[in-house]
Amino acid sequence: MRRALIAANWKMHGSRDFIRELVGQLLPSLSNGVNGVDLVLCPPFPYLAQVAELSRGAELILGAQNICSEHEGAFTGEISGRMLADFKVRYVIVGHSERRKLMAENDALVARKFVAAQASGLIPVLCVGETLDERNSGNAAQVVEQQLSAVLEGSGVEALRSAVIAYEPVWAIGTGCSASTSQAQDMHASIRRMIAEHDPEVAQSVQIVYGGSVTPDNAPDLFSQPDIDGGLIGGASLNAESFIRICQSVS
Ligand code: 13P
Repeated sequence: MRRALIAANWKMHGSRDFIRELVGQLLPSLSNGVNGVDLVLCPPFPYLAQVAELSRGAELILGAQNICSEHEGAFTGEISGRMLADFKVRYVIVGHSERRKLMAENDALVARKFVAAQASGLIPVLCVGETLDERNSGNAAQVVEQQLSAVLEGSGVEALRSAVIAYEPVWAIGTGCSASTSQAQDMHASIRRMIAEHDPEVAQSVQIVYGGSVTPDNAPDLFSQPDIDGGLIGGASLNAESFIRICQSVS
């Protein structure tokens, strides 16, 4: 039986005041955790220490939104996995579509970031997903397979034992237009089949979460699907009431 995982990706939002208030509002409902669910908060880098402090003793796990592919050295502006681990970060998002598109991160770099995360003891949350054009031209599964293959070639299927996959169709991110439950379930099942070709047991055990316009209204249906193990939540995670309802909708 796979555990569920709900991760809040706050992206480049917040301030010290905002985060103090948001975490303060989350704690009464989430500090003791939600049965069977890993709860992860991914603030922007400067607020990692603040979130760690505010959530001390609570069942909330710290995650980061990005990682450098290198461990140390002259890489101005970059942040290594070792540094993240030093701040008790446990998860790190790699290959988010915003970074692929806006920061020109390609599959090869994402694969190296995945390696760097695991080398530092972090659990990578590998984001995959197709654009609307790719879906409309019938290539969605192929695109996702290629993104996944880059990591499998670099790290091997065993590496997925300590990783999370996030299926985030680009067209559903921040648009208010989530994938339907069947579109999401179909792709999650297809990702599991791709992994099963390498190792059926890993395919059954890896957590695959869905991201893209998840709300308290659509979360219960999405999370009830057999291959959807939770969510990576953007906009709705910036509102305490919405995020709590999403976390509590995992059955
Ligand atoms: P939204 O929930 O705002 O669509 O963002 C999803 C996402 O990109 C999470 O990483």
